[in-house]
Amino acid sequence: MAAQRIFTLSQVAQHKSTKDCWLVIHGRVLDVTKFLASHPGGEDALIEVAGKDATKEFDDTGHSGGAKNLLREYQVGVLQGHTIKDADSKDVSIKKKEMSAFVIKGDPLPKSKAFLEFFVPLLFAAFYFGYRYLTRADQITS
Ligand code: HEM
Repeated sequence: MAAQRIFTLSQVAQHKSTKDCWLVIHGRVLDVTKFLASHPGGEDALIEVAGKDATKEFDDTGHSGGAKNLLREYQVGVLQGHTIKDADSKDVSIKKKEMSAFVIKGDPLPKSKAFLEFFVPLLFAAFYFGYRYLTRADQITS
């Protein structure tokens, strides 16, 4: 995991334009410049709190879990005096991907089950056609 970069509020305050917009939410220092245009709550909501600690505003809006997860995507560091366990967002998302890949790899169909799934329908088909053949033969002879 990459080292957490620590910023002071006055350092964050230097990034408060539409071309360079940072803010702090729950101790995470976020660079939301690329998110301004796509923020569902509008660009202005973010610009108003640019360069500041916007934790209260973020929480007051009642953001969803999805929005909270997004915070990690834009994190560039941590506010001085705060500790965040999963501060490096990219590492967290990679770990999640590895986990899901592991689950898929680690859960193959047992060989016996795969065998049954293949042969049982085949057996049924064989019985069916065998039965049809025999009953047809009966009809022809009678
Ligand atoms: C990086 C920080 C932020 C992210 C990732 C984010 C993300 C989102 C998302 C995904 C939504 C859609 C609704 C939801 O899923 O909750 C949303 C809505 C909204 N956000 Fe944010 N947001 C951020 C910061 C802020 C801040 C600081 C404010 C206020 C100053 C704000 C104000 C709003 C408002 C007003 C809405 C619209 C709510 C509605 O129409 O119901 N957001 N935001």
